[in-house]
Amino acid sequence: TTVRDGGPGAGLREEAAPAGADGEGGRAFRTVQWIGDALGGRLRMIDQTLLPTRFIEIDCNDVESVWQAIKTLSVRGAPAIGVAAAYGAVIGARSRGTSDPATIREALREAAAHLRTSRPTAVNLFWALDRMEAAADSARRVAEVPLLDHLLAEAHAIADEDRAMCRAIGRHGADLLAAGDGVLTHCNAGGLATADYGTALALIFTAHEQGKAVHVFADETRPLLQGARLTAWELANRGIDVTLICDNMAAQVMKEGKVQVVVVGADRIAANGDAANKIGTYGVAVLAKAHGIPFYVAAPSSTFDLSLADGSGIPIEERDPREITEGFGRRTAPEGVGVYNPAFDVTPAALITGIVTERGLVRPVDAATIRAVLGTPQAA
Ligand code: MRU
Repeated sequence: TTVRDGGPGAGLREEAAPAGADGEGGRAFRTVQWIGDALGGRLRMIDQTLLPTRFIEIDCNDVESVWQAIKTLSVRGAPAIGVAAAYGAVIGARSRGTSDPATIREALREAAAHLRTSRPTAVNLFWALDRMEAAADSARRVAEVPLLDHLLAEAHAIADEDRAMCRAIGRHGADLLAAGDGVLTHCNAGGLATADYGTALALIFTAHEQGKAVHVFADETRPLLQGARLTAWELANRGIDVTLICDNMAAQVMKEGKVQVVVVGADRIAANGDAANKIGTYGVAVLAKAHGIPFYVAAPSSTFDLSLADGSGIPIEERDPREITEGFGRRTAPEGVGVYNPAFDVTPAALITGIVTERGLVRPVDAATIRAVLGTPQAA
């Protein structure tokens, strides 16, 4: 293990990429973890911008480095962003070096406000930070526990619930896959996007654990290649049969009869089921409809934003044009060309066959069914 200095708030740690799955349905890497106690601990995350060629972990000790890690996609994927932000809030809360609760609360609020500006679309970020602020307030009633310990416990709870959520989504969704199916996915909604083994990929991992081998087609996912760099890496690491395709090949692969089901994740789902996910997802849904292929979204309850009646209110992040003109350091477009780079799109509920949540399957996808499923207690 090599430790390298990564600036005032972030250190870097490099080690060999994990060799593969542990064979127990567990995982071979930890996307987001807290090392140590509330006062001296730090947030450790895989730098996903460097995968699949380098496996480097970043240690964050200040709010700015957590903000940067989220903004630059070192940590990405809606649930993982939420978990990272929760730990980032702990780092912010302790930053004034005092045990005075009012000062800790003020520092937490300031950190949360800053972290909320990192990325706009995944609602899990806002959900997790709201939860951390609520925990700081509720701590007034449990005065015997030091406030920072209470906040770290809340961040751990968010991470633990995320792990349980992945498993429950896997259980609820694995029945949608049959042995031998071709399953197309877009972007990365796997272990690198959550605290455990993912949402969309949880269906595939669970089916695999149940002895139902499926074949996955991973869209490469332009412009930042989360499908190629992350999904293909994760699936191959776990011994799952995966074929990488460019995004513009999905129609042809469907026409050839190779895809029986599509499963993707989500960053924010409105009350009527319209679902924002990585740019290109909407196109995949249209293609699935045209080919009569079921299209499923897998996401936890923390990804629903029931304050929005439909997807038109979902903020869509626009990212740096250079991700398209000179992604990964090589110029592939003329200087000065106009570029539009929305990072997400919204798939209308009418194109979604079902939404797999940790509380069960939403089908048909409409406001009443969403309310009914989300209103039920979390599956054990
Ligand atoms: O820009 P990213 O890589 O954060 O986008 C991620 C996605 O679109 C995922 O599909 C989504 O967050 C679900 S992750 C379980």
